Amino acid sequence: MSFDGRKFRDALGRFATGVCVITTIDSQKPVGMTVNSFASVSLDPPLVLWSLQNNSDMYEAFASPRHFAINILSKEQQGHSNAYAKKGDHLLQAEHYRIGKYGSPIIRNALTTLECELEACHEGGDHLIVVGRVRDMHTRPTGEPLLFFSGGYRELH
Ligand SMILES: Cc1cc2nc3c(=O)[nH]c(=O)nc-3n(C[C@H](O)[C@H](O)[C@H](O)COP(=O)(O)O)c2cc1C
Repeated sequence: MSFDGRKFRDALGRFATGVCVITTIDSQKPVGMTVNSFASVSLDPPLVLWSLQNNSDMYEAFASPRHFAINILSKEQQGHSNAYAKKGDHLLQAEHYRIGKYGSPIIRNALTTLECELEACHEGGDHLIVVGRVRDMHTRPTGEPLLFFSGGYRELH
């Protein structure tokens, strides 16, 4: 029996997630990519992961940066999510970020930003699993998340 890829995607889409923008510096330019594959891994040491599709035009930029940041978007930042999910258009807009302690762009008004140092990369089928060690963090005490569920954006009710 052949595996039904469409059914698998739909099944995975029933898992509600937040939405993040991964940011880093590529050839001295600030870049960002929208992802929902973020997950926590370990508290001690503090490790997190996200996965990068192997066929991304931005693969080189996001597969091996020494530092990167994971920015968890608020419900007001759906525009950021759309902007940084466009193929071939990952340059960060100047008003969207500042530079953090470890050199990665920090998205302004994100719910949380985790500044990471690259810890390890693992092959994961058609994705690369990128593991980061959290070096610094910035958390907004208030605000609600942007959610992604069944292929669309949602908000908490
Ligand atoms: C809600 C959402 C979640 C996404 N999650 C991921 C992800 O976890 N990993 C990934 O590589 N791309 C993810 N993407 C796709 C990228 O944001 C982007 O569309 C893709 O990288 C564009 O192609 P390019 O990388 O070749 O420029 C996601 C897109 C959206 C809208």
